[in-house]
Amino acid sequence: MFISLEGIDGSGKSTQARLLAEALRDAGREVVLTREPGGSPGAEEIRSLVLEGDPDRWSAETEILLFTAARRDHLERTIRPALDAGKVVICDRFADSTRMYQGLSRGDLRAQVDALHDLMIGREPDLTLLIDMDPEKGLARAKGRKGTEERFEDFGLELQRQMRNGFLALSREFSDRFRVIDGDRPPEEVAADVFTTVQQALV
Ligand code: ADP
Ligand code: TYD
Repeated sequence: MFISLEGIDGSGKSTQARLLAEALRDAGREVVLTREPGGSPGAEEIRSLVLEGDPDRWSAETEILLFTAARRDHLERTIRPALDAGKVVICDRFADSTRMYQGLSRGDLRAQVDALHDLMIGREPDLTLLIDMDPEKGLARAKGRKGTEERFEDFGLELQRQMRNGFLALSREFSDRFRVIDGDRPPEEVAADVFTTVQQALV
């Protein structure tokens, strides 16, 4: 089973991905925990190209190509081999993030994102957990975690608001695979909800 976690920056995706991996391993499953952009050596190199440096470093179109190139490598070298071996793959962000960030943040490029996805990726997660979060709280959490990967976090609160609404709209568009989880609770409570949702989907 292929599970992705989505949501705005600071919503708690990485925390929940880790807790879910632990819980599934404790339940006897083989789990590959991975993330995007990145998740394979080549894709991790692309990660630093897209997440570091000047916010205007790439045009919107070039950025779509870079994220999709990273995803293709990740799919070929990490995700598909793990799924073929019967493992559960937990991925911190996947194509829905490109639909949102590259598809909405600099004009309406959703059609290009989807066309490239169909051509080069052609695979959706079996289950997508949207960790829904108030943008102001999410941004405060993300800013508390100082680092160099700030190209997108620097876009600020307005973008985060747009992304939250966009993710909620996406959860209605793909209601078969999306489940919305309230992320504004203590991590253990969110994790219990996540685990129950995954168990229901695994049977
Ligand atoms: P994301 O991967 O969505 O950006 P993280 O899991 O990295 O989010 O969490 C961002 C920050 O918020 C981290 O410092 C983390 O420890 C903290 N955090 C995560 N989940 C919660 C929660 N449910 N309540 C409070 N703080 C949290
Ligand atoms: P991530 O490391 O998940 O950041 P965070 O923990 O703050 O949520 O992702 C880094 C940034 O990359 C995030 O701001 C969203 C952006 N991103 C895109 O713009 N497009 C994509 O396709 C992906 C996967 C991520």
